[in-house]
Amino acid sequence: MGSRHSNRGVQVATGSRKRGAGETLMHKQLVEDGYFLSGRHLVMAPDCNATENLFGGQLLSWIDEGAALFAGCKMGTDRLVTLKMGEIIFKVPVERGRVVSVYCKTSHEGTTSLGVHVVVTKRSFEAGGETPVIDTNIVFVSVGEDGKPRPWNLPIINQE
Ligand SMILES: CC(C)(COP(=O)(O)OP(=O)(O)OC[C@H]1O[C@@H](n2cnc3c(N)ncnc32)[C@H](O)[C@@H]1OP(=O)(O)O)[C@@H](O)C(=O)NCCC(=O)NCCS
Repeated sequence: MGSRHSNRGVQVATGSRKRGAGETLMHKQLVEDGYFLSGRHLVMAPDCNATENLFGGQLLSWIDEGAALFAGCKMGTDRLVTLKMGEIIFKVPVERGRVVSVYCKTSHEGTTSLGVHVVVTKRSFEAGGETPVIDTNIVFVSVGEDGKPRPWNLPIINQE
């Protein structure tokens, strides 16, 4: 246990963490701040645009998916829709081969809605450092079979 297995130059850490093989300082900070890692993606060629960097539409899809997964768990339903996405500023390009992480934290608990603050980062396997790419807020709404808003967060009424 705690050993490293080497396979064609790819090292997989098991047990205790070695520097560079585990989580970054930014990951640690985000988790300490209450963020949940809700998605990780390796940027590959089909995800890229003509400049060989990550295509923005692909990144938006990963953000929506990661945040919806987080919101569905929080709201206790898979019947939810994205109502609103906040401003998206692509601060830096994301190069092929980078690992994109989607971190989520609840920003607002409504009756039928849930606000999710999303932080997206990129990192490379070798360098270990993690850089912020986007942060934004997304609002999801729980819906019924009819597609209309349905409460997920009703107050518990004491019936005694
Ligand atoms: C999401 C949808 C069901 C909301 O229906 P609606 O009749 O407009 O809903 P309401 O006005 O009753 O608002 C529902 C909730 O959203 C919130 N809301 C509405 N507009 C908002 C806005 N601009 N910003 C933040 N929250 C908003 C309301 O406050 C309410 O939350 P609460 O119950 O927690 O207080 C409807 O707009 C819809 O079906 N949109 C399409 C969704 C979609 O296709 N998404 C893409 C694919 S998932």
